[in-house]
Amino acid sequence: MKKMFFLAILLFSYFQMSQQIQKTTGNGKETLSNPRLMLVQGTLNVMMNQNITLSCHSEYGSPPVTYTFFKDSQKVTTLHRPDLTPGLFNLTINAASDVGEYKCKAENNISSGRKYSNSLHFTLIEPISKPVLSSPTSQAQKGQNVTLSCLSENGSLPITYIFFKGKQSISPPVTMQKKEAAVIFLFINSSSDFGTYKCKAENSFRNNTKYSNSFNFTLTEKFKSPRSSTGLTSTVNAEESENYVIYTEIEPVKQEEEYVNCSIIRREDQKEKSACATVYSKVFRD
Ligand SMILES: *[C@@H]1O[C@H](CO)[C@@H](O)[C@H](O)[C@H]1NC(C)=O
Ligand SMILES: *[C@@H]1O[C@H](CO)[C@@H](O)[C@H](O)[C@H]1NC(C)=O
Ligand SMILES: *[C@@H]1O[C@H](CO)[C@@H](O)[C@H](O)[C@H]1NC(C)=O
Ligand SMILES: *[C@@H]1O[C@H](CO)[C@@H](O)[C@H](O)[C@H]1NC(C)=O
Ligand SMILES: *[C@@H]1O[C@H](CO)[C@@H](O)[C@H](O)[C@H]1NC(C)=O
Ligand SMILES: *[C@@H]1O[C@H](CO)[C@@H](O)[C@H](O)[C@H]1NC(C)=O
Ligand SMILES: *[C@@H]1O[C@H](CO)[C@@H](O)[C@H](O)[C@H]1NC(C)=O
Ligand SMILES: *[C@@H]1O[C@H](CO)[C@@H](O)[C@H](O)[C@H]1NC(C)=O
Repeated sequence: MKKMFFLAILLFSYFQMSQQIQKTTGNGKETLSNPRLMLVQGTLNVMMNQNITLSCHSEYGSPPVTYTFFKDSQKVTTLHRPDLTPGLFNLTINAASDVGEYKCKAENNISSGRKYSNSLHFTLIEPISKPVLSSPTSQAQKGQNVTLSCLSENGSLPITYIFFKGKQSISPPVTMQKKEAAVIFLFINSSSDFGTYKCKAENSFRNNTKYSNSFNFTLTEKFKSPRSSTGLTSTVNAEESENYVIYTEIEPVKQEEEYVNCSIIRREDQKEKSACATVYSKVFRD
C-alpha cells in the first residue's frame, strides 16, 4: 500500500516535469501568457475624433512578441516587440465603423504560442447639445398652471434632464429614452415663482453636462401682495424638492414686488417650439 502511494507521487512528479519540459522547448523558450487588452487613453464610450490608446500585453513568455489587434475579428494592425513590454496601438475614431469589439493576439515563435486577449467593446456616443428651456406661455398669473419643457436637440439617448429655479433643483432627474422634451408642471402661486428657471441635460458620456438658457415668467397683471409675507422662500413644489439630492446651491429668494415686473426674453426658436408642441397641448385645457 505504501509502495503504491510512493509510486503515485513519482508518477505525478514525472507528469509535472514533462509539462515543464513541454512549456520550455528546446531553446529554453516559453509560451506566452494570455495577453491583456487595456485602455491606456480614452474611454469605452467614445466621441467622433477621439483618440484612444490600447495596450496589449503578455506578461510571461519568451520574446520577441508579435501583437495583432482585431476589430470585430478583422485584423487592424500588427506590432513587434523585442521584449516583454506592451504593444501600444493608437486609434482615432473617424467613423462609426471604428467602434466595435477590439481584441488582440500575442505570438512568439513557438508554434503553440498563440494567445488571445479579453475583448473591449467601444460605443459611439454623440455629445449633448445645449438644451433649450421653453414654455408655451411666457406670461402667467397667480393660480395658473404652467409647463416648462427642456430638450437637447442632439446627443445620444438616454438623456437625463433636471429643472432648476435659481440654483435649486425643482424636479427629480427625468430620463428620456426618446428624442422628446422633458416636461414639468408648475403651479404659480407666489411671487417667488417668477424667478429664473434653467435646466440641465446629460447623457452617458463622461463630463458632458450642458445647461440651458434662462427662462422667466412675467406676471400678466400687477401682483397683489401675497397673503401675509410668510415664508414664501420656497420654490415650486418645495415639499417635493426637499427630497432631491441634487441641490448645488440654495439661493435665498428675494421677496420684492418689483421682482415680478421684470421683462422677459424668451429665447426659443421655432424649431424648438414645434418639437415640444405635442406635449404642450395636453396642459392648457383651461
Ligand atoms: C488625436 O491625435 C492626433 C494625432 O494623432 C492629433 O492631431 C489630435 O489633435 C488628437 N486629438 C485629440 C482630441 O486629442
Ligand atoms: C500614441 O499616443 C501617445 C499619446 O497618447 C503617444 O505618446 C505615442 O507616441 C503614440 N504612439 C504612436 C505609435 O503613435
Ligand atoms: C524566432 O524569432 C526570431 C526573431 O524574430 C527570428 O530571428 C527567428 O528566425 C524565429 N525563429 C523561428 C523558428 O521562427
Ligand atoms: C445638431 O446636429 C446637427 C447635425 O450635426 C447640427 O447641424 C446642429 O447644429 C446641431 N444642433 C445643435 C443645437 O448643436
Ligand atoms: C395643474 O396641472 C397638473 C397636471 O396637468 C394637474 O395635476 C393639477 O391638478 C393642475 N393644477 C391646477 C390648480 O390646475
Ligand atoms: C471629468 O471631470 C472631473 C472632475 O471635474 C475631472 O477630474 C476629470 O479629469 C474629467 N474627465 C475628463 C475625461 O475630462
Ligand atoms: C403654493 O403651492 C404649493 C404647491 O402646490 C403649496 O405647497 C403652497 O402651500 C402654495 N402656497 C400658497 C401661498 O398658496
Ligand atoms: C429673470 O429674472 C431675474 C430676476 O428678476 C433677472 O435677474 C434675470 O435677468 C431675468 N432673466 C431673463 C432672461 O429675463
